[in-house]
Amino acid sequence: MKVVSSVYQLTVFLANHPKKGSLGFIPTMGALHEGHASLVKKSLSQNALSICSIFVNPSQFNNKKDFQNYPNRLDKDLNLLRKIGCDVVFTPSKEDIYPNGVPSKLFDFGLLDKVMEGASRPGHFNGVAMVVSRLFEIIKPQRAYFGEKDFQQLAIIKSLTAQKFKSVEIISCDTLREKDGLAMSSRNLLLDKRYRAAAPRIYQRLLAVQERAQSVCVSELRSWIENVFTNDEDLVLEYFEIADAKSLKKSDNWSDFPEHVACIAVFAGTTRLIDNILLEIN
Ligand code: PAJ
Repeated sequence: MKVVSSVYQLTVFLANHPKKGSLGFIPTMGALHEGHASLVKKSLSQNALSICSIFVNPSQFNNKKDFQNYPNRLDKDLNLLRKIGCDVVFTPSKEDIYPNGVPSKLFDFGLLDKVMEGASRPGHFNGVAMVVSRLFEIIKPQRAYFGEKDFQQLAIIKSLTAQKFKSVEIISCDTLREKDGLAMSSRNLLLDKRYRAAAPRIYQRLLAVQERAQSVCVSELRSWIENVFTNDEDLVLEYFEIADAKSLKKSDNWSDFPEHVACIAVFAGTTRLIDNILLEIN
């Protein structure tokens, strides 16, 4: 496995690498887990060369503390990537990604970055779009892999690609979960015993939402989940939304859209966790 830590090194490597097929790219912020690994494995199975980047992108954190507390475990990450046979790992510095400081580029994603995560974390998706654009420009992949765990991010990336990177195919990947249902996340490392024990209730409740969606209306379901969280001492609901799985427009009735998604953000202590589930209404 080749580890390259600068844009220059990567450019030289790619220029000298025999082009025997497609290039797959998996952007990450490190503290890797099996969820990330599943994206890398998918890329390895579909491309001649796979590059995984590890870069904790400052421009997508709207909260300084959140950025400072973001777990950093490069040695472990490299071991995991080596074990699964990743070809190249790209670990650029902040100066390499933003040589002129963080730009104030603004993207237009319509409603997609105004709701849910976009409303709760101003500037977050703009930062994601900036770093992904920069990485796409450097790496020029044919395919790029993103997880459904970050459902809204995936929608933003699809919009970014349609606007600016038409030659990149976005491959969406299923959410990997712990045995108890908790969506794997780098942030799970920040949970102490008490909140780690509480966190699986998020997915349990999403499963209950999926089941109840067959028999109750959208507004009743919203009230039900709000009530459940009000009575939970360890989990604080930030938002729960039911929306069109494509446009992320808020759903008022099940008949509004062919497919709905329920998205949730919850604080377990000081750790913010997100999850989602697709709702098929029979
Ligand atoms: P990060 O949170 O490290 O996630 C990297 C990729 O792994 C994302 O596409 C994310 O959706 C996916 N992922 C995370 N947890 C997953 C899980 N449990 N199952 C499947 N896939 C999962 O998302 C980011 O980094 C950043 O915003 C980034 C796109 C790298 C831009 O900085």
